[in-house]
Amino acid sequence: MTAIKVPFIDLKQRYEEEKSELLACVERVVSQGHFVLTQEVSEFEEQAAKYVGAKHVVGLNSGTDALMMALWAHGIGKGDEVITTPVSFVATTGSIVHVGAKPVYVDVRDDQNMDPGKVEAAITPRSKAIMPVHWTGRIADMNAIMEIARNHKLLVIEDAAQTMGAYYHGKHGGSFGHAAAFSAHPLKNLNALGDGGFMSTNDDEVARKVRLYRTHGLESRDSCVLYGVNSRLDSLNAEVLKYRLGRLKSIVDRRRKNVELYRKLIKQGPIRIPAEQPHEHNSYVMFITQADARDKLKNYLAQRGVESLVYYGTALHLHKAAEKLGYGKGDFPVAERQCDRVLALPHHQHLTEDQVAYTAEAVNKFYGA
Ligand SMILES: Cc1ncc(COP(=O)(O)O)c(C=O)c1O
Repeated sequence: MTAIKVPFIDLKQRYEEEKSELLACVERVVSQGHFVLTQEVSEFEEQAAKYVGAKHVVGLNSGTDALMMALWAHGIGKGDEVITTPVSFVATTGSIVHVGAKPVYVDVRDDQNMDPGKVEAAITPRSKAIMPVHWTGRIADMNAIMEIARNHKLLVIEDAAQTMGAYYHGKHGGSFGHAAAFSAHPLKNLNALGDGGFMSTNDDEVARKVRLYRTHGLESRDSCVLYGVNSRLDSLNAEVLKYRLGRLKSIVDRRRKNVELYRKLIKQGPIRIPAEQPHEHNSYVMFITQADARDKLKNYLAQRGVESLVYYGTALHLHKAAEKLGYGKGDFPVAERQCDRVLALPHHQHLTEDQVAYTAEAVNKFYGA
């Protein structure tokens, strides 16, 4: 096969595709000379709330802040425990630690999402919330998780950072729990020009508190009712996100098409692709395979011009920062085994069928299939 380049991500191509509309967004916001909490932010919030199926969306400057504020606004802090998963980006655990609570992990299922069957054993009198992660844009098993939460009177804060465009039994991610945190980081499907994020909730009081907290607790210019932070979604990014929300479906559809083609072409066995269940509509922020001899495969692909990434090689309980939590190797065997095997293949919306086919062929060749 003739060598071709297959980049893992191509944000420059995205810019080329959207250039005139993005520049029009810049022009609209910059020309009016107002950049903070303008109507672009509230318009985006309304549109995103409708898309997600929540009563409120509050625009913030990252998914991490959205997680922290969702916990804080529900009164979760010192002495509380939050049940979560060791398979995620570090910010999931970080947000729990930053509000003063203790992360308590439960292992994952084969699809890398929280195993609801393991949650009840992790509940203690200090448990206050469950924080499932919709990893890669596959919604965790929310029917089971919500039932456990109801039975034990626990809150559910969804880490929906990777969830825009993902559905479970026809319902959009982030609309199941008491609140959800979304990221608009440049590598997400709905992405800002830099950092951005938002929180969704149906609870008027939680939305009101987070709206205050994101802007120093200022009720008006001269009245501070609580001490908050500066975590406002920029007007410029709100305008960009409004535009990109209209294109989200096409981005997700193109990614889904590439994943489908991979499923057809890659001979599974030594490399596995977790199946998409009939009730799932995954948004594929990442396309993660589980591969034997993962590091060798990664090098083999790199030599052939294919970029792939290990997302992630270390389970959250085994990071240095987690030492104080008291976990060790072997505590979450499914997650740990996956961390040795996970490899994300390029699947972004700008890839051609030839690039996907070339990558799949290289994978098959590596395994001698
Ligand atoms: C699962 C998960 N949680 C939290 C975050 C944090 O989001 P942000 O980078 O917007 O702070 C991310 C994204 O990077 C993520 O993928």
